[in-house]
Amino acid sequence: MNLPADLRRRRWLLACAALPLGPAACALRPALRPGAWREVALVAAPAEAAVRGAGHAQAAVWAYNGQVPGPEIRARQGERLRVVVENRLPQETTVHWHGLRVPNAMDGVPHLTQPPIRPGERFTYEFDLPDAGTYWYHSHLRSSEQLERGLHGALVVEEAQPPAVDRDITWVLDDWRLTQAGQVSESFGSAHDISHAGRIGNAITLNGRPPRDLVLRPGERLRLRIVNAANARIFALGFDGHEPQVIALDGQPVAPHGLPGGRVRLAPGMRCDLVLDATGQPGQRYAVHDTFYPRAAFDLLQLVYGKTPFALSPSTEPRTGRSKGPPAPLPPNPLAEPDLAAAQTHEIRFEGGMMGGLHRALLNGQSLPMMSLLRQGKAWAVNGVVSAGHGEGHAHHEAPLLHLRLGRSYVLALRNDTNWHHPIHLHGHSFRVIARNGRPTPHREWRDTVLMDPMERVDIALVADNPGDWMFHCHILEHQDGGMMAVVRVA
Ligand code: C2O
Ligand code: CU
Repeated sequence: MNLPADLRRRRWLLACAALPLGPAACALRPALRPGAWREVALVAAPAEAAVRGAGHAQAAVWAYNGQVPGPEIRARQGERLRVVVENRLPQETTVHWHGLRVPNAMDGVPHLTQPPIRPGERFTYEFDLPDAGTYWYHSHLRSSEQLERGLHGALVVEEAQPPAVDRDITWVLDDWRLTQAGQVSESFGSAHDISHAGRIGNAITLNGRPPRDLVLRPGERLRLRIVNAANARIFALGFDGHEPQVIALDGQPVAPHGLPGGRVRLAPGMRCDLVLDATGQPGQRYAVHDTFYPRAAFDLLQLVYGKTPFALSPSTEPRTGRSKGPPAPLPPNPLAEPDLAAAQTHEIRFEGGMMGGLHRALLNGQSLPMMSLLRQGKAWAVNGVVSAGHGEGHAHHEAPLLHLRLGRSYVLALRNDTNWHHPIHLHGHSFRVIARNGRPTPHREWRDTVLMDPMERVDIALVADNPGDWMFHCHILEHQDGGMMAVVRVA
Protein backbone atom coordinates (compact mmCIF):
# COMPACT_ATOMS: atom_id res chain seq x y z
CA MET A 1 0.00 0.00 0.00
CA ASN A 2 3.08 2.10 0.21
CA LEU A 3 3.48 2.64 -3.51
CA PRO A 4 3.64 6.00 -5.24
CA ALA A 5 0.20 7.25 -6.20
CA ASP A 6 0.41 6.63 -9.92
CA LEU A 7 1.70 3.12 -9.48
CA ARG A 8 -0.99 2.41 -6.97
CA ARG A 9 -3.61 3.80 -9.23
CA ARG A 10 -2.37 1.60 -12.05
CA ARG A 11 -2.52 -1.43 -9.82
CA TRP A 12 -6.01 -0.47 -8.78
CA LEU A 13 -7.15 -0.03 -12.36
CA LEU A 14 -5.57 -3.33 -13.28
CA ALA A 15 -7.24 -5.09 -10.43
CA CYS A 16 -10.67 -3.91 -11.33
CA ALA A 17 -10.45 -3.25 -15.05
CA ALA A 18 -12.71 -5.20 -17.34
CA LEU A 19 -15.44 -5.97 -14.89
CA PRO A 20 -18.50 -6.37 -17.03
CA LEU A 21 -20.62 -7.16 -14.00
CA GLY A 22 -19.20 -4.41 -11.81
CA PRO A 23 -16.86 -4.69 -8.88
CA ALA A 24 -18.80 -7.49 -7.26
CA ALA A 25 -17.61 -9.77 -10.03
CA CYS A 26 -13.96 -8.90 -9.57
CA ALA A 27 -12.02 -12.13 -9.44
CA LEU A 28 -9.53 -10.97 -6.80
CA ARG A 29 -11.14 -13.00 -4.04
CA PRO A 30 -12.29 -16.22 -5.61
CA ALA A 31 -12.95 -17.75 -2.19
CA LEU A 32 -15.91 -15.48 -1.59
CA ARG A 33 -19.29 -15.85 -3.14
CA PRO A 34 -20.17 -13.24 -5.76
CA GLY A 35 -21.43 -10.06 -4.20
CA ALA A 36 -19.60 -10.80 -0.97
CA TRP A 37 -17.59 -7.65 -1.14
CA ARG A 38 -18.43 -4.02 -1.45
CA GLU A 39 -16.49 -1.26 -2.96
CA VAL A 40 -16.73 2.39 -2.06
CA ALA A 41 -14.83 5.42 -3.31
CA LEU A 42 -14.30 8.29 -0.91
CA VAL A 43 -12.89 11.59 -2.06
CA ALA A 44 -11.86 13.91 0.76
CA ALA A 45 -12.03 17.48 -0.47
CA PRO A 46 -13.15 20.99 0.47
CA ALA A 47 -16.89 21.51 0.02
CA GLU A 48 -19.75 23.63 1.29
CA ALA A 49 -22.45 22.49 3.67
CA ALA A 50 -25.64 23.97 5.06
CA VAL A 51 -24.75 23.35 8.70
CA ARG A 52 -26.97 26.24 9.76
CA GLY A 53 -29.78 25.09 7.52
CA ALA A 54 -31.36 26.37 4.36
CA GLY A 55 -31.64 30.15 4.26
CA HIS A 56 -28.22 30.64 5.84
CA ALA A 57 -24.85 31.02 4.18
CA GLN A 58 -23.16 27.67 3.60
CA ALA A 59 -20.10 26.86 5.63
CA ALA A 60 -16.80 25.92 4.04
CA VAL A 61 -16.12 22.35 5.20
CA TRP A 62 -13.98 19.37 4.35
CA ALA A 63 -16.09 16.46 3.25
CA TYR A 64 -16.12 12.94 1.89
CA ASN A 65 -17.79 12.94 -1.52
CA GLY A 66 -19.03 16.47 -0.94
CA GLN A 67 -21.31 15.46 1.96
CA VAL A 68 -21.22 16.14 5.70
CA PRO A 69 -21.43 13.64 7.22
CA GLY A 70 -19.81 11.50 4.52
CA PRO A 71 -21.94 8.93 2.72
CA GLU A 72 -23.29 6.21 4.99
CA ILE A 73 -21.43 3.05 4.05
CA ARG A 74 -23.66 -0.02 4.30
CA ALA A 75 -22.51 -3.59 4.01
CA ARG A 76 -23.45 -7.04 5.25
CA GLN A 77 -21.78 -8.94 8.05
CA GLY A 78 -19.18 -11.31 6.59
CA GLU A 79 -18.58 -9.23 3.51
CA ARG A 80 -15.29 -7.71 2.56
CA LEU A 81 -15.14 -3.96 2.17
CA ARG A 82 -12.80 -2.08 -0.10
CA VAL A 83 -12.61 1.69 0.17
CA VAL A 84 -10.44 3.74 -2.15
CA VAL A 85 -9.72 7.05 -0.48
CA GLU A 86 -8.51 9.92 -2.56
CA ASN A 87 -7.07 12.97 -0.87
CA ARG A 88 -7.92 16.30 -2.47
CA LEU A 89 -7.43 18.24 0.75
CA PRO A 90 -4.70 20.80 1.28
CA GLN A 91 -3.30 18.51 4.03
CA GLU A 92 -2.32 14.90 4.49
CA THR A 93 -5.02 12.60 5.80
CA THR A 94 -5.89 8.99 6.69
CA VAL A 95 -9.16 7.20 7.43
CA HIS A 96 -9.82 5.17 10.58
CA TRP A 97 -12.65 2.64 10.78
CA HIS A 98 -13.80 3.26 14.31
CA GLY A 99 -14.91 0.11 16.11
CA LEU A 100 -14.26 -2.27 13.23
CA ARG A 101 -11.82 -5.05 14.03
CA VAL A 102 -9.60 -4.58 11.00
CA PRO A 103 -6.04 -5.80 10.41
CA ASN A 104 -3.55 -3.34 11.83
CA ALA A 105 -2.31 -2.15 8.43
CA MET A 106 -5.86 -1.03 7.58
CA ASP A 107 -6.43 0.92 10.81
CA GLY A 108 -5.64 4.33 9.37
CA VAL A 109 -3.25 5.71 11.99
CA PRO A 110 -0.64 7.91 10.31
CA HIS A 111 2.99 6.82 10.77
CA LEU A 112 1.94 4.00 13.09
CA THR A 113 0.02 1.80 10.65
CA GLN A 114 0.47 3.56 7.31
CA PRO A 115 2.12 6.59 5.74
CA PRO A 116 -0.20 9.59 5.55
CA ILE A 117 -2.13 9.97 2.29
CA ARG A 118 -0.61 13.06 0.76
CA PRO A 119 -2.66 15.58 -1.22
CA GLY A 120 -3.30 14.13 -4.66
CA GLU A 121 -2.68 10.54 -3.55
CA ARG A 122 -4.89 7.54 -2.92
CA PHE A 123 -4.89 4.73 -0.44
CA THR A 124 -6.94 1.56 -0.67
CA TYR A 125 -8.37 0.13 2.52
CA GLU A 126 -9.60 -3.42 2.35
CA PHE A 127 -10.82 -5.62 5.17
CA ASP A 128 -13.41 -8.17 6.24
CA LEU A 129 -16.44 -7.25 8.32
CA PRO A 130 -16.72 -9.90 11.04
CA ASP A 131 -19.13 -7.91 13.20
CA ALA A 132 -22.57 -6.50 12.48
CA GLY A 133 -23.47 -3.16 14.00
CA THR A 134 -23.23 0.61 13.87
CA TYR A 135 -19.73 1.92 13.28
CA TRP A 136 -18.22 5.04 11.78
CA TYR A 137 -15.24 6.25 9.87
CA HIS A 138 -13.24 9.42 10.26
CA SER A 139 -9.94 11.06 9.57
CA HIS A 140 -7.19 10.16 12.03
CA LEU A 141 -4.72 12.86 11.07
CA ARG A 142 -4.95 16.21 12.84
CA SER A 143 -8.22 14.78 14.05
CA SER A 144 -9.24 17.81 16.10
CA GLU A 145 -9.18 19.89 12.92
CA GLN A 146 -10.17 17.36 10.26
CA LEU A 147 -13.18 15.92 12.12
CA GLU A 148 -14.37 19.37 13.11
CA ARG A 149 -14.24 20.41 9.47
CA GLY A 150 -16.52 17.48 8.59
CA LEU A 151 -14.44 14.39 7.76
CA HIS A 152 -16.55 11.60 9.23
CA GLY A 153 -19.45 9.34 8.31
CA ALA A 154 -21.48 6.35 9.51
CA LEU A 155 -20.69 2.77 8.58
CA VAL A 156 -23.46 0.25 9.12
CA VAL A 157 -22.84 -3.48 8.95
CA GLU A 158 -26.20 -5.22 8.68
CA GLU A 159 -26.95 -8.49 10.42
CA ALA A 160 -27.50 -11.49 8.14
CA GLN A 161 -31.11 -11.34 9.33
CA PRO A 162 -31.78 -7.81 10.53
CA PRO A 163 -34.52 -7.57 13.16
CA ALA A 164 -37.91 -6.57 11.82
CA VAL A 165 -38.43 -2.84 12.15
CA ASP A 166 -40.46 -0.43 10.09
CA ARG A 167 -37.65 2.05 9.64
CA ASP A 168 -33.90 1.94 10.22
CA ILE A 169 -32.63 5.49 10.78
CA THR A 170 -29.14 6.82 11.45
CA TRP A 171 -28.51 10.00 13.43
CA VAL A 172 -24.99 11.31 13.15
CA LEU A 173 -24.75 13.98 15.84
CA ASP A 174 -22.16 16.69 15.54
CA ASP A 175 -21.30 19.90 17.31
CA TRP A 176 -19.62 22.78 15.52
CA ARG A 177 -17.94 25.90 16.74
CA LEU A 178 -19.04 28.45 14.19
CA THR A 179 -18.12 32.09 13.85
CA GLN A 180 -20.73 34.86 13.67
CA ALA A 181 -20.57 34.49 9.91
CA GLY A 182 -21.44 30.80 10.20
CA GLN A 183 -17.99 29.52 9.28
CA VAL A 184 -15.98 26.87 11.14
CA SER A 185 -13.90 28.75 13.69
CA GLU A 186 -10.21 28.19 13.02
CA SER A 187 -9.36 28.06 16.73
CA PHE A 188 -8.37 24.39 16.54
CA GLY A 189 -6.52 22.98 19.50
CA SER A 190 -6.64 26.08 21.69
CA ALA A 191 -4.82 25.78 25.00
CA HIS A 192 -8.10 26.29 26.84
CA ASP A 193 -9.90 23.51 24.97
CA ILE A 194 -6.98 21.16 25.42
CA SER A 195 -6.82 21.59 29.18
CA HIS A 196 -10.59 21.76 29.85
CA ALA A 197 -13.55 19.94 28.28
CA GLY A 198 -12.36 20.11 24.66
CA ARG A 199 -13.86 22.06 21.80
CA ILE A 200 -17.49 22.37 22.80
CA GLY A 201 -19.29 24.11 19.96
CA ASN A 202 -22.28 26.36 19.47
CA ALA A 203 -24.18 24.63 16.65
CA ILE A 204 -25.49 21.08 16.85
CA THR A 205 -26.29 19.18 13.70
CA LEU A 206 -28.05 15.91 13.01
CA ASN A 207 -26.87 14.34 9.76
CA GLY A 208 -25.20 17.64 8.92
CA ARG A 209 -28.24 19.92 9.32
CA PRO A 210 -29.90 21.63 12.26
CA PRO A 211 -32.08 18.88 13.79
CA ARG A 212 -35.57 18.75 12.34
CA ASP A 213 -38.68 17.21 13.86
CA LEU A 214 -39.04 13.49 13.29
CA VAL A 215 -42.50 12.57 12.02
CA LEU A 216 -43.70 9.27 13.47
CA ARG A 217 -46.60 7.14 12.40
CA PRO A 218 -48.53 5.76 15.36
CA GLY A 219 -47.65 2.12 15.82
CA GLU A 220 -44.40 1.96 13.90
CA ARG A 221 -41.17 0.50 15.27
CA LEU A 222 -37.92 2.29 14.55
CA ARG A 223 -34.33 1.27 14.85
CA LEU A 224 -32.38 4.39 15.67
CA ARG A 225 -28.62 4.26 15.20
CA ILE A 226 -27.05 7.21 16.97
CA VAL A 227 -23.42 8.18 16.39
CA ASN A 228 -21.63 10.94 18.29
CA ALA A 229 -19.16 12.43 15.81
CA ALA A 230 -18.49 15.61 17.80
CA ASN A 231 -14.98 16.57 18.87
CA ALA A 232 -15.87 16.99 22.52
CA ARG A 233 -19.57 17.35 23.27
CA ILE A 234 -21.17 14.57 25.26
CA PHE A 235 -24.88 13.93 24.76
CA ALA A 236 -27.36 12.42 27.23
CA LEU A 237 -30.59 11.98 25.31
CA GLY A 238 -33.98 11.40 26.86
CA PHE A 239 -37.20 10.68 24.99
CA ASP A 240 -40.36 12.18 26.49
CA GLY A 241 -43.39 9.88 26.41
CA HIS A 242 -41.47 6.91 25.00
CA GLU A 243 -39.52 3.96 26.31
CA PRO A 244 -36.78 3.21 23.83
CA GLN A 245 -34.82 0.01 24.36
CA VAL A 246 -31.05 -0.15 23.98
CA ILE A 247 -30.17 -3.12 21.75
CA ALA A 248 -26.52 -2.38 20.91
CA LEU A 249 -23.69 -0.21 22.20
CA ASP A 250 -20.71 0.69 20.01
CA GLY A 251 -22.10 -1.73 17.44
CA GLN A 252 -22.11 -4.71 19.78
CA PRO A 253 -25.39 -6.34 20.85
CA VAL A 254 -26.42 -5.94 24.47
CA ALA A 255 -29.33 -7.50 26.37
CA PRO A 256 -32.21 -5.14 25.47
CA HIS A 257 -32.89 -2.71 28.29
CA GLY A 258 -34.45 0.69 28.91
CA LEU A 259 -32.40 3.86 29.19
CA PRO A 260 -30.58 3.93 32.53
CA GLY A 261 -31.87 6.97 34.43
CA GLY A 262 -34.04 7.76 31.42
CA ARG A 263 -31.17 8.88 29.18
CA VAL A 264 -28.62 7.42 26.87
CA ARG A 265 -25.14 8.88 27.27
CA LEU A 266 -23.06 9.21 24.14
CA ALA A 267 -19.58 10.64 24.39
CA PRO A 268 -17.54 11.36 21.27
CA GLY A 269 -16.92 8.16 19.31
CA MET A 270 -19.72 6.20 20.96
CA ARG A 271 -22.76 4.71 19.24
CA CYS A 272 -26.05 3.34 20.45
CA ASP A 273 -28.77 1.38 18.68
CA LEU A 274 -32.25 1.96 20.07
CA VAL A 275 -35.56 0.36 19.27
CA LEU A 276 -38.22 3.03 19.53
CA ASP A 277 -41.89 2.09 19.44
CA ALA A 278 -44.12 4.93 18.33
CA THR A 279 -46.67 4.58 21.10
CA GLY A 280 -48.11 8.10 20.82
CA GLN A 281 -51.38 9.20 19.30
CA PRO A 282 -52.01 11.19 16.13
CA GLY A 283 -51.29 14.88 16.65
CA GLN A 284 -49.08 14.46 19.72
CA ARG A 285 -45.58 15.93 20.10
CA TYR A 286 -42.80 14.81 22.41
CA ALA A 287 -39.33 16.24 22.94
CA VAL A 288 -36.04 14.44 22.58
CA HIS A 289 -33.88 16.40 24.99
CA ASP A 290 -30.27 16.55 25.99
CA THR A 291 -29.41 17.05 29.65
CA PHE A 292 -25.74 16.12 29.81
CA TYR A 293 -24.63 19.62 30.79
CA PRO A 294 -27.27 20.41 33.43
CA ARG A 295 -27.04 24.17 32.97
CA ALA A 296 -27.25 23.88 29.19
CA ALA A 297 -30.07 21.40 28.68
CA PHE A 298 -31.89 21.75 25.37
CA ASP A 299 -34.40 20.01 23.12
CA LEU A 300 -32.68 18.25 20.25
CA LEU A 301 -35.90 17.81 18.27
CA GLN A 302 -39.56 16.87 18.57
CA LEU A 303 -41.16 13.56 17.79
CA VAL A 304 -44.29 14.57 15.92
CA TYR A 305 -47.17 12.22 15.30
CA GLY A 306 -48.87 12.36 11.96
CA LYS A 307 -52.58 12.00 11.61
CA THR A 308 -52.67 8.55 10.09
CA PRO A 309 -51.73 5.24 11.64
CA PHE A 310 -48.65 3.52 10.30
CA ALA A 311 -48.95 2.12 6.80
CA LEU A 312 -45.74 2.49 4.85
CA SER A 313 -46.53 -0.11 2.24
CA PRO A 314 -49.45 -2.38 1.50
CA SER A 315 -47.48 -5.35 2.77
CA THR A 316 -46.95 -3.77 6.17
CA GLU A 317 -50.09 -3.86 8.25
CA PRO A 318 -50.75 -0.97 10.61
CA ARG A 319 -49.76 -1.85 14.12
CA THR A 320 -51.66 0.77 16.07
CA GLY A 321 -52.81 -0.37 19.45
CA ARG A 322 -51.03 -3.69 19.20
CA SER A 323 -48.27 -4.32 21.67
CA LYS A 324 -45.19 -5.58 19.95
CA GLY A 325 -43.46 -6.63 23.09
CA PRO A 326 -39.81 -6.00 23.86
CA PRO A 327 -37.30 -6.27 21.02
CA ALA A 328 -35.49 -9.58 20.67
CA PRO A 329 -31.77 -9.54 21.45
CA LEU A 330 -29.51 -9.19 18.41
CA PRO A 331 -27.38 -12.22 17.56
CA PRO A 332 -23.95 -11.86 19.19
CA ASN A 333 -20.89 -11.02 17.12
CA PRO A 334 -17.96 -13.48 17.09
CA LEU A 335 -15.97 -11.83 19.88
CA ALA A 336 -13.59 -13.86 22.03
CA GLU A 337 -14.80 -14.04 25.63
CA PRO A 338 -12.11 -12.86 28.08
CA ASP A 339 -11.13 -15.51 30.64
CA LEU A 340 -11.29 -13.45 33.81
CA ALA A 341 -9.81 -16.18 35.99
CA ALA A 342 -6.67 -16.24 33.87
CA ALA A 343 -6.58 -12.55 33.00
CA GLN A 344 -3.65 -10.38 33.93
CA THR A 345 -4.58 -6.92 35.22
CA HIS A 346 -2.89 -3.69 34.20
CA GLU A 347 -3.68 -0.44 35.92
CA ILE A 348 -3.82 2.63 33.70
CA ARG A 349 -3.89 6.06 35.31
CA PHE A 350 -5.14 9.12 33.51
CA GLU A 351 -4.00 12.42 34.95
CA GLY A 352 -3.93 16.10 34.13
CA GLY A 353 -6.17 18.90 32.98
CA MET A 354 -7.13 22.00 34.85
CA MET A 355 -7.90 21.59 38.55
CA GLY A 356 -6.12 18.27 38.53
CA GLY A 357 -3.20 17.04 40.55
CA LEU A 358 -0.68 16.58 37.74
CA HIS A 359 2.58 18.30 38.64
CA ARG A 360 5.06 16.71 36.27
CA ALA A 361 5.01 14.17 33.47
CA LEU A 362 7.26 12.75 30.79
CA LEU A 363 7.19 14.27 27.32
CA ASN A 364 9.66 12.96 24.73
CA GLY A 365 11.58 11.33 27.56
CA GLN A 366 11.89 14.54 29.57
CA SER A 367 10.23 15.14 32.90
CA LEU A 368 8.48 18.50 32.65
CA PRO A 369 6.39 20.55 35.08
CA MET A 370 2.74 21.18 34.19
CA MET A 371 3.43 24.80 33.24
CA SER A 372 5.89 23.90 30.52
CA LEU A 373 3.64 21.08 29.31
CA LEU A 374 0.82 23.59 28.91
CA ARG A 375 3.07 25.90 26.96
CA GLN A 376 3.63 23.04 24.50
CA GLY A 377 -0.10 22.39 24.18
CA LYS A 378 0.02 19.35 26.46
CA ALA A 379 -2.12 18.76 29.54
CA TRP A 380 -2.69 15.03 30.03
CA ALA A 381 -0.68 11.95 30.91
CA VAL A 382 -1.29 8.21 30.74
CA ASN A 383 0.74 6.38 33.39
CA GLY A 384 2.89 9.47 33.70
CA VAL A 385 3.65 9.84 30.00
CA VAL A 386 2.37 12.62 27.75
CA SER A 387 2.02 11.54 24.13
CA ALA A 388 3.87 13.78 21.72
CA GLY A 389 1.33 12.95 19.04
CA HIS A 390 1.06 11.27 15.69
CA GLY A 391 3.64 13.34 13.91
CA GLU A 392 6.46 11.74 12.03
CA GLY A 393 9.06 10.70 14.56
CA HIS A 394 6.57 10.66 17.43
CA ALA A 395 3.94 7.96 17.82
CA HIS A 396 6.11 5.20 16.43
CA HIS A 397 9.04 6.15 18.62
CA GLU A 398 7.12 6.25 21.85
CA ALA A 399 7.43 3.04 23.79
CA PRO A 400 4.14 1.16 23.97
CA LEU A 401 2.14 1.73 27.14
CA LEU A 402 1.40 -2.00 27.28
CA HIS A 403 2.69 -5.17 25.68
CA LEU A 404 -0.12 -7.70 25.47
CA ARG A 405 0.47 -11.31 24.49
CA LEU A 406 -1.53 -12.37 21.47
CA GLY A 407 -4.51 -14.48 22.47
CA ARG A 408 -4.30 -13.74 26.21
CA SER A 409 -7.04 -12.21 28.37
CA TYR A 410 -6.49 -8.92 30.16
CA VAL A 411 -8.27 -6.64 32.56
CA LEU A 412 -7.39 -2.98 32.13
CA ALA A 413 -8.18 -1.10 35.33
CA LEU A 414 -8.71 2.45 34.11
CA ARG A 415 -8.36 5.14 36.77
CA ASN A 416 -9.53 8.61 35.95
CA ASP A 417 -7.53 10.78 38.33
CA THR A 418 -8.83 13.98 36.71
CA ASN A 419 -11.84 16.20 37.21
CA TRP A 420 -12.99 15.73 33.61
CA HIS A 421 -14.91 13.20 31.55
CA HIS A 422 -12.93 11.03 29.16
CA PRO A 423 -14.27 8.61 26.54
CA ILE A 424 -11.37 6.16 26.16
CA HIS A 425 -11.13 4.33 22.84
CA LEU A 426 -9.07 1.24 22.00
CA HIS A 427 -8.44 0.44 18.35
CA GLY A 428 -8.69 -3.02 16.84
CA HIS A 429 -10.63 -4.66 19.68
CA SER A 430 -13.90 -4.59 21.54
CA PHE A 431 -13.84 -5.01 25.30
CA ARG A 432 -16.33 -5.76 28.03
CA VAL A 433 -17.01 -3.07 30.62
CA ILE A 434 -17.06 -5.26 33.72
CA ALA A 435 -16.97 -2.88 36.69
CA ARG A 436 -17.33 0.76 37.65
CA ASN A 437 -15.84 1.94 40.93
CA GLY A 438 -15.45 -1.71 41.90
CA ARG A 439 -19.10 -2.62 41.30
CA PRO A 440 -19.99 -5.06 38.53
CA THR A 441 -21.87 -3.45 35.64
CA PRO A 442 -25.42 -4.73 35.05
CA HIS A 443 -24.97 -5.52 31.34
CA ARG A 444 -21.21 -6.21 31.01
CA GLU A 445 -21.54 -4.43 27.69
CA TRP A 446 -19.07 -4.76 24.86
CA ARG A 447 -17.67 -1.43 23.74
CA ASP A 448 -14.79 0.11 21.89
CA THR A 449 -15.08 3.46 23.71
CA VAL A 450 -15.86 3.76 27.40
CA LEU A 451 -16.84 6.99 29.14
CA MET A 452 -15.10 7.59 32.46
CA ASP A 453 -16.69 10.12 34.80
CA PRO A 454 -14.42 12.42 36.77
CA MET A 455 -12.40 10.38 39.31
CA GLU A 456 -14.15 7.18 38.22
CA ARG A 457 -12.51 3.76 38.02
CA VAL A 458 -13.64 1.56 35.16
CA ASP A 459 -12.49 -2.02 34.61
CA ILE A 460 -12.57 -3.40 31.10
CA ALA A 461 -11.71 -6.91 29.93
CA LEU A 462 -10.61 -8.19 26.56
CA VAL A 463 -8.80 -10.89 24.67
CA ALA A 464 -5.81 -9.37 22.88
CA ASP A 465 -6.54 -11.25 19.68
CA ASN A 466 -5.65 -8.72 16.99
CA PRO A 467 -1.90 -8.37 16.48
CA GLY A 468 -0.33 -4.97 15.96
CA ASP A 469 0.27 -1.56 17.49
CA TRP A 470 -3.07 -0.06 18.43
CA MET A 471 -3.98 3.45 19.51
CA PHE A 472 -5.53 3.85 22.92
CA HIS A 473 -6.73 7.39 23.48
CA CYS A 474 -9.32 9.80 24.74
CA HIS A 475 -11.86 10.55 22.00
CA ILE A 476 -12.21 14.14 23.12
CA LEU A 477 -9.97 15.13 20.28
CA GLU A 478 -8.41 18.09 22.07
CA HIS A 479 -7.45 15.78 24.95
CA GLN A 480 -5.90 13.42 22.43
CA ASP A 481 -3.91 16.37 21.05
CA GLY A 482 -3.03 17.30 24.61
CA GLY A 483 -1.25 13.99 25.23
CA MET A 484 -4.01 11.58 26.32
CA MET A 485 -2.95 8.91 23.91
CA ALA A 486 -0.80 5.81 23.94
CA VAL A 487 0.02 2.68 21.99
CA VAL A 488 -0.96 -0.83 23.05
CA ARG A 489 1.14 -3.50 21.39
CA VAL A 490 -0.40 -6.93 20.83
CA ALA A 491 2.14 -9.53 19.73
CU1 C2O B 1 -12.44 7.16 16.48
CU2 C2O B 1 -8.45 6.70 17.30
O1 C2O B 1 -10.43 7.00 16.85
CU1 CU C 1 -10.33 13.17 27.63
